[in-house]
Amino acid sequence: MGKTNLICGLDLGTQNIKILIAKRTPEGLTMSNYQEFPSFGVRRGVVIQPEELSRILRENFLKIKEQNQQINSIYLNIGGAHLFSISSRGSIAVSRADQKISEEDISRVLEAAKTINLPSNKEIFDVIPREFIIDGEKGIKDPLGLKGIRLEAEVLVLAGFSPYLNNLTRTILDSGLQILDMVPSSIAAGRACLSEKQKELGVAILDIGAGTCDLAIFEEGDLIHLAVLPIGSANITNDIAIGLKTDIEIAERIKIEFGNCFLKGGQKRQKIKLGEEETLIFSQKQLTNIIAARVSEILREINKELKKISKERLLPAGIVLTGGGAKLPGIVELAKKEFHLPVRLGKPKGIEDLDEDLSLATVIGLVLLGQDLEKETEKSSFSTAGISSKLKRFFKIFIP
Ligand SMILES: Nc1ncnc2c1ncn2[C@@H]1O[C@H](COP(=O)(O)OP(=O)(O)OP(=O)(O)O)[C@@H](O)[C@H]1O
Ligand SMILES: [Mg+2]
Repeated sequence: MGKTNLICGLDLGTQNIKILIAKRTPEGLTMSNYQEFPSFGVRRGVVIQPEELSRILRENFLKIKEQNQQINSIYLNIGGAHLFSISSRGSIAVSRADQKISEEDISRVLEAAKTINLPSNKEIFDVIPREFIIDGEKGIKDPLGLKGIRLEAEVLVLAGFSPYLNNLTRTILDSGLQILDMVPSSIAAGRACLSEKQKELGVAILDIGAGTCDLAIFEEGDLIHLAVLPIGSANITNDIAIGLKTDIEIAERIKIEFGNCFLKGGQKRQKIKLGEEETLIFSQKQLTNIIAARVSEILREINKELKKISKERLLPAGIVLTGGGAKLPGIVELAKKEFHLPVRLGKPKGIEDLDEDLSLATVIGLVLLGQDLEKETEKSSFSTAGISSKLKRFFKIFIP
């Protein structure tokens, strides 16, 4: 991939599959190719039909090849409510006689932090160091070369349900692609939509997709919590279909054309053409009530996640909403009311010549994370970041 100067992000979503190919230029990353098509075989962020999905991927990457872009390897998102994070701590004795902490000590302490009791069908796919502690001295980000007797690490362990992780990797490998790295959607979206300052202050990114809401919370620059709720914007569409007694396709059109979380300008009756002669008439009030009820429910579920880590009403940089579902008018205002926190939309940045479209947050973030990882690997390996990513690849044992 390095040779071709292209970086490819693949976002396997519940509703849409997005492929973004960016080109490295001296000025930064520019958009080279973007493809989006309806998803298949993905339910609430989880691959349930690997064979069909890998066939669709193979076909689409062949088309891309015909456009003179050969893509062999990709940066991939991981989705689904089976993902979870746990804080953990590891502790070791520094090995060298001169007490200088080596790369090997850092690997060992992270490995020790990974030793947690998980059911046999759950597996760890990443360990993110938050801080190191040398002889009780806290808050150390890079312990390499420092002196001490005892080294401890505070980490966030990311894990998921092994059969789902296996399905995902199998799908990609069977389609003839290699996986350079896989990260949860919300981490990718956070990379594209959040500033370092927001992450330092304390912020949550919420990627509202069709089937899931992907949440990641950051503080002091580090990821502190990750969760995926099996509920998304498609639930709103389903409610509209039931409430207005119409088909899903029509409900989806109604949501996009007339959807709002707040009733503005009285109780208008709206019309939508269903065909040549047929028209559906509904009240805006009824539609807004249906939408607001479901959005409030989704936001309350997210608030429960904040509560779990005692961050309810406590994130100074607030909540950043992104993903296709965040395009719903009025959602920012409703979220401010629910969270009692600052709320804004997260427009994905970092790729020249590409719209800052909310639904592209994850795929743009994947490409940016890919670039970060490649830069890190190019640099000398004598940094904690380098070590953590090397370890991470070591954990990817589920790739057959
Ligand atoms: N203008 C809009 N107003 C309201 N909702 C919208 C709008 N545009 C898109 N959506 C909704 O966004 C959802 C698709 O978003 P997105 O592409 O981020 O999902 P996905 O990545 O396929 O799903 P997931 O992340 O859950 O796996 C759909 O439910 C769609 O109805
Ligand atoms: Mg998505």
